[in-house]
Amino acid sequence: MRTTVGIIGGGPAGLLLARLLHRTGIDCVVLESRTRSYVEQRQRAGMLEQGTVDALRECGAAGRLDAEGLIHQGIELRFDRERHHIDFPWLTGGRTVTIYAQTEIVKDLVALQLAEGPPLLFGAEALAIEKPESGSPVVRFLHEGREQTLSCDYVVGCEGSHGVAAEAFPAEVGRIYAHEYPYSWLGILADVPPSCEELIYARGPGGFALHSMRSPSVSRLYLQVPNGSDVRDWPDERIWDALDARFAIDGDWRLARGPITSKSVTRMRSSVHEPMRYGRLFLAGDAAHIVPPTGAKGLNLAVSDVRVLARGFAELHRTGSTELLDRYSELCLARVWQATRFSYDMTRMLHAQPDGDAFEHRMQLARLRRITASRPAAAELAANYTGLPLAL
Ligand code: FAD
Ligand code: DHB
Repeated sequence: MRTTVGIIGGGPAGLLLARLLHRTGIDCVVLESRTRSYVEQRQRAGMLEQGTVDALRECGAAGRLDAEGLIHQGIELRFDRERHHIDFPWLTGGRTVTIYAQTEIVKDLVALQLAEGPPLLFGAEALAIEKPESGSPVVRFLHEGREQTLSCDYVVGCEGSHGVAAEAFPAEVGRIYAHEYPYSWLGILADVPPSCEELIYARGPGGFALHSMRSPSVSRLYLQVPNGSDVRDWPDERIWDALDARFAIDGDWRLARGPITSKSVTRMRSSVHEPMRYGRLFLAGDAAHIVPPTGAKGLNLAVSDVRVLARGFAELHRTGSTELLDRYSELCLARVWQATRFSYDMTRMLHAQPDGDAFEHRMQLARLRRITASRPAAAELAANYTGLPLAL
């Protein structure tokens, strides 16, 4: 099999890149190791920056997003039994964010891809990328029980963390900067209307909690838990009790409980792979960088990477110039490091240290007080949360 751009991974990064390339007449093939139903069910992100919404609109994948996405004007910060509204339009000159689940984005992109092309192969696992430094890299992959090859002009690794694409970088070229956090998140979906109109980020007794939502009747909540936690140790009552304690404020607010339909534990970590390009091989999305989800940046970064890449391939196709593709790593990494810093700061500000360091806790409260008392401090949070501009 032969194509112009071989894309490894049918998550949001790979699927969106395929749509954007298709629009400019560039052919590509997407290899996805899992089944369609698996990728459509995998519970993850929910908060979209405006640039992410714009990119989905640009490739005709925003019909349902425009009808069902919830536009949010801000978030709430909770600590010391108080609630504080952070007003995004007021702080950023009119910007907002949209709540629409990653599962739904993937469903929308998969449906378009299967209806209009280019090819998307499920159950196709990339095994290795050969000759990435040459003019014709090759992806070896396993599909329908047979090993096959995809010859490409370019290869883009969009296969999430621990991928084969980063492994194709020679050791002396690639470097990973990584950081592990000493806590995890227990995420749940519950069939109960959200108890809030906007997302709540809480630093409560025992640590962090986040109240998000999927629809007017489905809530999405997250709870800081120790590393190594097992969902079997978290029966429903224990989860609701911990959430209740962490969201508690003085005043008449109550967290509504309902049947929990999904539970999973995620570790918090940061990592950045530099550079994001080697020869004709590019890394995009989680294949290049991971952020802890506290800043809601992972999916948004994946989308901004592929927007830069799609623009670069379009320029090459139209004019023969590789100028933008040559600047891909530099352009993306500037934004990636800012999102990594923001995610790190949000995570450190809102989670309890496992050793219960009282000084650290006082520092967190002082940071939160500053954000809720000073317009420039709140504006800095709002600018990062709603998304820094894409330098294109
Ligand atoms: P993935 O979604 O991981 O997709 C990679 C795809 O490649 C997968 O489908 C995988 O099956 C496939 N694959 C893997 N290996 C191979 C192979 N060898 N061959 C072929 N295919 C392969 N981000 C936000 O922006 N906002 C949020 O609110 C947010 N909340 C989050 C909450 C949680 C609990 C978690 C865990 C993450 C959250 N994120 C959030 C992060 C976001 O989900 C990820 O950054 C996003 O999924 C990255 O997309 P991707 O396409 O790069 O990678
Ligand atoms: C969601 C997840 C996040 O990590 C976040 O910061 C905001 C929202 C969500 O799943 O809705």
